Formats: sequence, structure tokens, C-alpha cells
Amino acid sequence: MSKVYTVGVFVGSLRKDSINRKLAHALAELAPPSLKLDFIEIAGLSLYNQDEDENPPAAWTAFRDRVRAVDAVLFVTPEYNRSVPGVLKNAIDIGSRPYGQSVWNGKPGAVVSASPGAIGGFGANQHLRQSLVSLNVPAMPQPQACIGGADKLFDASGKLVNEGTRKFLRGFMQAFAEWVAANAGE
Ligand SMILES: Cc1cc2nc3c(=O)[nH]c(=O)nc-3n(C[C@H](O)[C@H](O)[C@H](O)COP(=O)(O)O)c2cc1C
Repeated sequence: MSKVYTVGVFVGSLRKDSINRKLAHALAELAPPSLKLDFIEIAGLSLYNQDEDENPPAAWTAFRDRVRAVDAVLFVTPEYNRSVPGVLKNAIDIGSRPYGQSVWNGKPGAVVSASPGAIGGFGANQHLRQSLVSLNVPAMPQPQACIGGADKLFDASGKLVNEGTRKFLRGFMQAFAEWVAANAGE
């Protein structure tokens, strides 16, 4: 049997009716069998403070342990004021410290952004990629997934019903599976 890779999924919105969370669930459904998606929650993380590095909150340690355990990372995020929502950046910062002990290091990644707006969170998508370079997370360059008009793609139960988007995202996850297989360590 071919290897199955575990992918940590990080949703950049805490909103209970989040479009991005619905999209993340659609990505889990559309992923090929070689990827197993594992949702890692960021809501319970307090704001990062370097003073706490020596005696970190239990939630930071649990989060770091979860991220350390996965083979790859997938970010699904809205755009806030043309950038990454603070809650997601906070989680990224927590995982990156203490210095030299980043849990992100070397894990292949991908970014999906979604917005009701036309450009699909492009600004957040690009800013997040900038942080991933710093974290040594090789982020899949193509296909790029900036999903515009995203509030119109789901039915009342939260299922992604737009066939064109389903097809695109299935291809995206297939490409990501190949990216993970090529870039994950043994
Ligand atoms: C603080 C804030 C800033 C926002 N800034 C942007 C933005 O820069 N670009 C954009 O397309 N949408 C922006 N929006 C609208 C979000 O795209 C919209 O609320 C979306 O539903 C959030 O994603 P979610 O449904 O996953 O929570 C902003 C929303 C909030 C609350």
C-alpha cells in the first residue's frame, strides 16, 4: 500500500458559520486517499508572548505537539484587511518558537484563501506565503487557490455544491498530494 501522509489543517477563522471552515471540510472530502486531513484548532491559543517561552501555557505545548506530529500543513484562511487574520498569525508564531525549535520546519504546505469578494483573499494568501518562506515550509506554488464569491458556493447544510469549484479543488488536492510526497521527509 502506498504511504498515507497526515496533513494538519489550520482554519484562519473562528466564526461558527465560517466559509473557510466549510471549504476546509470540502478539501478533506475531495482529497485523494494518500492524504489524511487532521484539523488542528487555533481558537484556544492565548496571544504569543516571548516571556512565556520558558514556561509555556499547556495549550501552546499541545498545539506544538499536534503540529510536530503531522507530515504536512494546509492553511485555509480568510483575508482580513488584505492580510492574514491575527488569530492565524498568532498560531503560526506560537509554533515557530522557542527559537530553533519551530514545529513547522521542513513540512510541505499549501494555502487556500476564500472570500465573498472577487479576488478570493489574494492578499492574505500572498502574505501567508511570505511567513512560510521564513518558516522553511515549502508551499506549493501552483495551482493557487484564491476562491472568490465563496459565500455562494455552499448549500444550507454547508456542503460545497458548486461543481466547477469542486473540480478545481479536487485537482488542487491531487497536486498537493504529489507535492507532499515529493517534499516530505521520511
Ligand atoms: C476584520 C475583517 C477584515 C476583513 N477584511 C477583508 C479583506 O481585506 N478582504 C476580503 O476579501 N474580505 C475581508 N473581510 C470579509 C471576509 O472575507 C468575510 O467576513 C469572510 O466571510 C470571512 O471568512 P469566514 O467566513 O471564513 O469567517 C473582512 C472581515 C473582517 C471581519
